[in-house]
Amino acid sequence: ASERGAAGVIVVNNEDGPMSGGTLGDPDVGKVPTGGVSKADGAALEQAGGDVTLTLDTTTESSTARNVIAQTKTGSTDDVVMVGAHLDSVPDGPGINDNGTGVAATLETAVQLGGSPDVDNAVRFAFWGAEELGLLGSEAYVDSLSEEQRHDIALYLNFDMLGSENAGYLAYDGDNSDNVGEGPGPEGSAGIERTFTEFLQGSGVAADGTDFDGRSDYGPFIEHGIPSGGVFSGADETKTPEQAQKWGGTPGVVYDKNYHSATDTLENVDRAALAKNAAAVAYAVGVYAESLGGPNG
Ligand code: PHE
Ligand code: ZN
Ligand code: ZN
Ligand code: ZN
Repeated sequence: ASERGAAGVIVVNNEDGPMSGGTLGDPDVGKVPTGGVSKADGAALEQAGGDVTLTLDTTTESSTARNVIAQTKTGSTDDVVMVGAHLDSVPDGPGINDNGTGVAATLETAVQLGGSPDVDNAVRFAFWGAEELGLLGSEAYVDSLSEEQRHDIALYLNFDMLGSENAGYLAYDGDNSDNVGEGPGPEGSAGIERTFTEFLQGSGVAADGTDFDGRSDYGPFIEHGIPSGGVFSGADETKTPEQAQKWGGTPGVVYDKNYHSATDTLENVDRAALAKNAAAVAYAVGVYAESLGGPNG
């Protein structure tokens, strides 16, 4: 559902004091109901001198977003392996790499796993809403859980952008070995990073660590101390010459020049990267569903 506010014009008149006139039906324009101008703004405008007419774009939208969550009927429900990808995209583009790719890999993993697999640990899939508005879906979900319900999540795996045009092969840096400035993630995150990098190594790709700073839906999970990880093909950072040497692609160019733009389309997905990363998704989910100890546990 969405609703639009009425557009209006506010006249700011020095003689009558700041924000004293208006056509929005509220004489106390310091509290313009449709937003955008405060008393402080009015004072600043007054200092600038003269009468000022502001034409406000007063469109406000409110809408409802949803998470879609599904869990296997089998496996221990107090050691849940949680797997998530955000379903929404930015308004500027179709969002195929960001994040159709993460959703596709996660959904196909769910389909292949089935509803009643013979596993030790339950697997819970989450398709998040409103990531692009500030991790709203994942944050609301984590905050909706009780302390005990959060404790029942053994780990969280996040997939956001898996087929960037100038793809990087990146795993969230759970042990902080590759980055400075961010502390290591919750204990257990280092092991998750290793699970991904060892798997990719097995398919001939030497992955690098990447920022584990909460800039996707794993953020609310690590905030609550839940071990997390995932793979990522890169967004607005630049591929180094060393990376282009080992992975191919173009050095000195961002991983995804289509990031958050109208060209984030199917034809700009690196399908080879998506295939490798999607295999890593399925592998990690399978491994942790079998044992929280990971591939060697
Ligand atoms: N969460 C970002 C998005 O969906 C993707 C991203 C993650 C970009 C990490 C940069 C670093 O737009
Ligand atoms: Zn995005
Ligand atoms: Zn994203
Ligand atoms: Zn929270």
